[in-house]
Amino acid sequence: MSSLAVLGCMWGDEAKAKIVDYLGDKADFVVRFQGGSNAGHTIHNQGQKYVFHSVPSGILYKQSKCVIGPGVVIDPFSLKAEIDALKKLGIAFENRLFIDERAPLVLPLHQILDSGTEDKLGKQKIGTTRRGIGPAYSDLASRVAIRFGDLAYPEWLEDRLLNLYKFHNEKLSAAKLKSLLKELAELYADLKDFSAKTDELLYEAYLSGAFILFEGAQGTLLDISFGTYPYVTSSNTIAGGISIGTGLPPRMLDRTLGVYKAYSTRVGEGPFPTELKNEIGDRIRTQGNEFGSTTGRPRRVGYFDAVAAAYTARLNGLDAIAVSLLDVLSGISELKICTGYWLGNKRLESFPSHPLELSKVEPEYLDCVPWDADISGCKSLSRLPKAARDYLDVIQDLVDRPIELVSVGKDRNQTIKIKSKK
Ligand code: IMP
Repeated sequence: MSSLAVLGCMWGDEAKAKIVDYLGDKADFVVRFQGGSNAGHTIHNQGQKYVFHSVPSGILYKQSKCVIGPGVVIDPFSLKAEIDALKKLGIAFENRLFIDERAPLVLPLHQILDSGTEDKLGKQKIGTTRRGIGPAYSDLASRVAIRFGDLAYPEWLEDRLLNLYKFHNEKLSAAKLKSLLKELAELYADLKDFSAKTDELLYEAYLSGAFILFEGAQGTLLDISFGTYPYVTSSNTIAGGISIGTGLPPRMLDRTLGVYKAYSTRVGEGPFPTELKNEIGDRIRTQGNEFGSTTGRPRRVGYFDAVAAAYTARLNGLDAIAVSLLDVLSGISELKICTGYWLGNKRLESFPSHPLELSKVEPEYLDCVPWDADISGCKSLSRLPKAARDYLDVIQDLVDRPIELVSVGKDRNQTIKIKSKK
């Protein structure tokens, strides 16, 4: 019996899905424990591109069962569309997808609230995906949420909907209520076979020797408590969120693998110390196709930030790390890694918790030797140019975790497995 978490360790979009895909064909269960359809996990498999928002990407492997835990917020409209699209590509779901009855729903009202708040906030806006994620989690904490299991009880559901709209001071006409109930009933007819108590399922699976893979969404610096608040998502993205979001006891998490890009990106607002607002940033954005898979927004790009990376490695108790998109840095003429932060004439000893402080820090950089060669065909570390190997060594030393995987392209076989030196 064993379990492994694959976690994004910066601001999301670290190519976690590619790493989950690389490891996932051995997984008996692939589990989402937080977030919702704000995630966009892209996998390229045998020439086919798959984009996942709520369905765990393990659905691609015939032997894997997939779990959407109670910590995930579910938009039943987009989930149904996602399942239908995957079915069209020949993917089977029967007895393979399990959705926890306790998972809170994201309803159209939440998307309206999300967009409304963003528009109202002006300069203070978060830059959310406008998928209704924040309002859905807020409603859970306010105890007015509607949960997946509520869809099984129409009368209760009607009361809960009336309650929800009352709570938000939103009008719900009799006609609108009727049509919403009808839509939800139709969706539930299609989704009810997936309904489960996934905590029981995973507990039994772990005890019976299954290999369970937890698929993180977003990244550690977007964690609601430990991220760059308020510019964060509304769930706990760190390893600690796994127990909360699945009901599996913490001691049943055996290993954590953190995924870091070879550089940094962020979407939405908020401080980003190593951001590059110049030609180098533009070039990395173009070479890395750094545009959001959920919203299409251009991502902000920056140098690798080892101060933030060491912070997130500690928070997640990482056993090892994977470095993704190293190939994107080929031909980037000026390569640097951030080794420290300066605030005025003080060198900070730890990652700032206040956004004002983080927005004022001056990064201290180590210049790295660039390389030109196309490395996307390299199958081993020794095939990489020396400069690229040195670059990885710097990351490994500063983050103080062994690099286990290096991704040099989109496909599964463009992955270098490294025997740990440490
Ligand atoms: P929300 O999760 O839609 O509420 O957005 C909150 C913040 O998290 C915004 O800065 C988003 O851009 C960011 N975010 C949410 N999901 C993702 C993701 O999957 N990748 C990268 N950033 C994300």
